[in-house]
Amino acid sequence: MILFEQDSQGKLITIQTAATTYQMCVTERGFLLHLYYGPKTEGDLRYLLTFRDRGFSGNPYDAGDNRTFSMDALPQEYPCYGNGDYRFIAFEMCDDHGIYGCDLRYAGHEVIRGKYSIPGLPAVYGDEFQAATLKVILRDEAAGVEVTLLYGMLADQDVITRAAVIRNIGERKIEIHKAYSGLIDFMSGEYDVIHFHGRHGMERQPERVPVMTGTQSYGSRRGTSSHQQNPFLILAEKDCTETQGTCYAMQLLYSGNFHAEAEIDQYGQTRMGIGLQDEMFAYPLEKGEALYTPEVVLCCAADGMTHLSHILHTLIRKNICRDQNRISRRPVPINNWEATYFDFNGEKLLEIAKQAAALGVEMFVLDDGWFGARNDDNRGLGDWTVNEKKLGGTLKQIVDQINAMGMQFGIWIEPEMVNEDSDLYRAHPDWAFTIPGRKPVRGRNQLVLDFSRPEVVNAVYDQIDGVLRSANIAYVKMDMNRSLMDICTKTDKMQNQGVILYHYVLGVYAFLEKLRTQHPELLIEGCSGGGGRFDAGMLYYVPQIWCSDNTDAIDRITIQYGTSFGYPVSAVGSHVSAVPNEQTGRSTPMHTRGVVAMAGNFGYELDLSRISEEDGQEVKRQIADCKKYWKLTHEGLYYRLTDPLHNREFAAWEFVSEDRAEALLNVVTLDNHCNNPTQYVRMSGLDPKGCYEAQESGRIYHGSALMQAGVPLPFLQNEYQAWQVHFIRKQM
Ligand code: DGJ
Repeated sequence: MILFEQDSQGKLITIQTAATTYQMCVTERGFLLHLYYGPKTEGDLRYLLTFRDRGFSGNPYDAGDNRTFSMDALPQEYPCYGNGDYRFIAFEMCDDHGIYGCDLRYAGHEVIRGKYSIPGLPAVYGDEFQAATLKVILRDEAAGVEVTLLYGMLADQDVITRAAVIRNIGERKIEIHKAYSGLIDFMSGEYDVIHFHGRHGMERQPERVPVMTGTQSYGSRRGTSSHQQNPFLILAEKDCTETQGTCYAMQLLYSGNFHAEAEIDQYGQTRMGIGLQDEMFAYPLEKGEALYTPEVVLCCAADGMTHLSHILHTLIRKNICRDQNRISRRPVPINNWEATYFDFNGEKLLEIAKQAAALGVEMFVLDDGWFGARNDDNRGLGDWTVNEKKLGGTLKQIVDQINAMGMQFGIWIEPEMVNEDSDLYRAHPDWAFTIPGRKPVRGRNQLVLDFSRPEVVNAVYDQIDGVLRSANIAYVKMDMNRSLMDICTKTDKMQNQGVILYHYVLGVYAFLEKLRTQHPELLIEGCSGGGGRFDAGMLYYVPQIWCSDNTDAIDRITIQYGTSFGYPVSAVGSHVSAVPNEQTGRSTPMHTRGVVAMAGNFGYELDLSRISEEDGQEVKRQIADCKKYWKLTHEGLYYRLTDPLHNREFAAWEFVSEDRAEALLNVVTLDNHCNNPTQYVRMSGLDPKGCYEAQESGRIYHGSALMQAGVPLPFLQNEYQAWQVHFIRKQM
């Protein structure tokens, strides 16, 4: 519900979702102030605003002698640089003389049914029965700019989205230097920020730090959302845990450079904002032109982070991913990357496929190395023509043979990249990002194609489209293996880097949109050196993303733990690989690897023709379990039962069906010590009045006991052992 009230003090706008309230007001002078975001409240919250002498902070001219009115102290919806706010701001622009200054004031608002969309960018969707849109227009006539703040509301899901449209309404050119998607001011409270940092092979490690005075900054300058920082943050009250306390999420639907900041200001107020990266960003707007920011999802839970994650999981599955119902269950794949790397031929692939088919695997995925002269990772990118010599025939011949084994076929692509040693680069060197007169930075010995140019996107698309149409291809893994640098568009139209980086992301989205609409049956998995572009923007185009290049089950536990705060299991690609693990050298039992991979889109990444008879039997069991638990793991509620970064004895997580009739408990032992005490795991989310039968033992437990007292782990010794128990509620 979006409510609008007006009185002598100005205007009040309230967004009420099922369990949260968001309120803002317009002052008599037209400033748009933020009043509250949090657990549900009623009434007019303007009483929260305090007015003290802030003469040393700066007062707007039209406040006259009133020194108590200062933008440096008041909470705001979309603070801009130029009217007296010296904290980090959401919006900054300059005019064609390079003069910075802006004073945005309310110019109107409108409420419409249904959820707004954003041209060329991902956005949460919801029909007119599920969602509503609030548009608040801010204007500065003198600066020649109008900012439309977009608020989307999905009331039943307790989700509010934000984005902004910035338009040049003047006669002169303006340049936008900062344009956040959303920002929230909290007048009171003490908070921690939880951000998700990492590196290649170790993505989304949560770190919880207090918000401090001064500005804390998180973001990416790499051109992608990055392995190093995820565009997702949680702001949590000090006492907030998994099951209690108030917390807030900001999840950006964008796959490029972003910036998020948190700050405690001089008056102890907390500000947090997120949006486009402002470094290297300068976006000129001619008269009438507009810039659309990406969208940020906001949500708040009054009962801890598990609930916050559940809100996001459901939203991503039902209102961001667009092809959830296309297939009821995704096939179990085997990917040849870790089995062969570049060293394969058609015969070898068919041998792996044959063994996989015999064990029940449902799809064979041919990874890197099938095209051009791509026999190592130094050449060939850009030449999307099948290497028939290497495959020993056409792609169709291989695919037909795999289909005849009863398996679907999938293929790997990396459309945004080019090697200097490729026919594409030799024909179009200007299509790659390089700066004339300067040697480019290489990453994995490759260059990045200028996807801000539609003609480049289309030319690559056409090549790949030809391959996809040449055989019965059911799945594509779209990879992206280096960060951007040397950003320069080599056409007659000079562009600055800020514009190019934004249009690059639009180009990637345009490619994906074309791929999914022209191949509606295709299952597309995102990838970027593992999880370097694992964000909610991507999930608008692809339902799943390869979570990490690290397939070690024990490292994966922490990677998947961190990922689970913002993203559902249905978005995670997770495979069982060989031991000793290729990345860490660690050996873990096949059962453990299976249990860990089942907290994602389960598959294999090894040569199944080389495993033992015993492991082969385990693979058959795993595939049967994966099918049996698919609905529970992909549509059920996910519970983090331990924090594997701090609890080193064991890691535990759980899936519970929405009706609480079924649960799957997963435990893996971590560090082992001599003469260990017994460990107990407490479950969550069960029916406290219900009784549950553990399927393996037939033993009956009370739901309340499983949650309050827990169950003892059956292990005596050995690290990295897995215990998976399926509980079904009994009618007593
Ligand atoms: C990086 C991906 O994350 C891997 O899974 C694999 O596809 C390689 N690229 C191939 O080059």
